[in-house]
Amino acid sequence: MTPLKERGRTMNKSIASRKLELTKRRDAPLMTRTDLKAAGVKDITGAMNTILADVFALYLKTKNFHWHMSGPHFRDYHLLLDEHADQLFAMTDPIAERVRKIGGITLRSIGQISRTQRVLDNEAEYVEPLDMLAELAEDNRTLATRLRQVHNVCDKYRDVASASLIEVWIEETERRTWFLFEATRRP
Ligand SMILES: [Fe+2]
Repeated sequence: MTPLKERGRTMNKSIASRKLELTKRRDAPLMTRTDLKAAGVKDITGAMNTILADVFALYLKTKNFHWHMSGPHFRDYHLLLDEHADQLFAMTDPIAERVRKIGGITLRSIGQISRTQRVLDNEAEYVEPLDMLAELAEDNRTLATRLRQVHNVCDKYRDVASASLIEVWIEETERRTWFLFEATRRP
């Protein structure tokens, strides 16, 4: 065999083995091994992904009200909602990464978020400032209830790491609710 032919054969072989490697990697399950039970991984993943969709939805709703705020208390409310939106956004990455760490698959698109979220969007052209705050207070109260439910699921399977993150998020959610409630309290 000429050296050129031999080089060609070696190249074909390496392309074939690379293709095989890629196929193997693509077909391998995208699941991190964990000591949690399979039922736990399934239940916690489902609960956390739904919360993730809710948090993304509430983040955007808070930003929406931040952008469209008006009236005499504009500065205060505008800044308050920005702070709340930052807090909500900061929750999203740790939630998704918890799911991946325990061997689950997390959200992949905005479309998936909108199919999963339970938080109702508000696309109204104009919303009264106090109505914005009252609606967000209610959404945050509901979020705290749902976080407690996910905490129960984590407790059931002894996923203490997810549970301890959720405890902090419940406290932050209660703080947001408090501020929103006080800002809308009428004399
Ligand atoms: Fe802003």
